[in-house]
Amino acid sequence: MYKNFSLVPKVMFGRGSFAQLGDVLEERRTNSDGFVVFVLDDVFAGSELEKRLPVEDGDMVLYVNVDDEPKTEYTDLLVDKVKQHNTILPDGIVGIGGGSTLDIAKVVSLMLTNPGSSADYQGWDLIKNPAVYHVGIPTLAGTGAEISRTAILTGPEKKLGINSDYTLYDQVILDPELLKGVPKDQWFYTGMDCYIHDVESLKGTFINEFSKAYGEKSIDMCRQIFLEDHPDADDKLMMASYFGGMSIAYSQVGACHALSYGLSYVLGTHHGIGCCMAFDALDEIYPEGVLEFRKMMDRHQIVLPKKVAAPLSQEKLQLMVTTALNLTPLWENCLGPDWRHIMTREKCLELYLRM
Ligand SMILES: NC(=O)c1ccc[n+]([C@@H]2O[C@H](COP(=O)([O-])OP(=O)(O)OC[C@H]3O[C@@H](n4cnc5c(N)ncnc54)[C@H](O)[C@@H]3O)[C@@H](O)[C@H]2O)c1
Ligand SMILES: [Fe+2]
Repeated sequence: MYKNFSLVPKVMFGRGSFAQLGDVLEERRTNSDGFVVFVLDDVFAGSELEKRLPVEDGDMVLYVNVDDEPKTEYTDLLVDKVKQHNTILPDGIVGIGGGSTLDIAKVVSLMLTNPGSSADYQGWDLIKNPAVYHVGIPTLAGTGAEISRTAILTGPEKKLGINSDYTLYDQVILDPELLKGVPKDQWFYTGMDCYIHDVESLKGTFINEFSKAYGEKSIDMCRQIFLEDHPDADDKLMMASYFGGMSIAYSQVGACHALSYGLSYVLGTHHGIGCCMAFDALDEIYPEGVLEFRKMMDRHQIVLPKKVAAPLSQEKLQLMVTTALNLTPLWENCLGPDWRHIMTREKCLELYLRM
């Protein structure tokens, strides 16, 4: 009845903490044959950050491209590359990037010790063997992927995470300095993912004191970040993301995330921007949250794409509706046990046509 979940056991936080990655890995390095895999968002190829990686002889820098959000096929390919690099298991996997890269690194560490394709494990607690030791280092903040027990993947049949206690990072390093240089739109969209996690958690029917404690602090920090000026806004965003993730861990997200999954599945819309587009259509469900979100958009001069669903065929629109309505727990959290009578297919379609 009650969730009994694991948490990330080791957390380092602070400006410049990235410099301690070498020390963290040193404790894990076994012998001269051992190696570490740095799963690095290719946006950092040739960057100062890459030069600071504590790479030793035999290690592997595995560049990943996240122009498309993670797919099972792509992660299977990456796992093969690691196996080709060395036939033994690595001493550690280090994911460095935004939510997509953090999820990819989780999957690589899981799939090195579990047979088959990552698509076989999309679901809840299907993973049998513990993952290779893995460290997560966010360079974008908002998704909460650094703290969550899921790695979201699009597979041949569905978009669904690999949810398990083994998915959780063994160590995260939260260094706000790494957020420097994120393009403004991306900073905003990923930050809003966090704000929306908070609203959906706090306004949901599953709310409880655990989720409230984290959600209220997280949304308070989001207001400071997106509606005020603070020199330490990046520090706040790093922690808001963590707390937002903790809040939904014991409650659930809601209507906005359900609708964003439909956008993502049919149109390939990325998570942050998709959540923003969906949230902007949800005045009836989250009236105060949507008003505040629009103030944040105005302040940062963010303009969302409009009318993206209208040109789609009936077939695609219906697939979007089906994808969204399949996410039962999200709707239940949002609208209660009677949600099917409120969020009918017609209503859901109408919401998409507003986007
Ligand atoms: N596991 C979870 O709990 C969870 C939760 C929410 C979302 N997600 C996943 O997270 C992904 C979205 O993550 P995201 O919003 O963090 O974005 P992202 O990782 O998809 O990256 C977005 C863009 O920003 C770039 N980028 C990343 N860091 C940068 C930096 N410091 N400077 C410049 N560019 C940088 C990337 O190269 C990419 O082009 C989706 O795949 C979504 O499914 C996972
Ligand atoms: Fe999200």
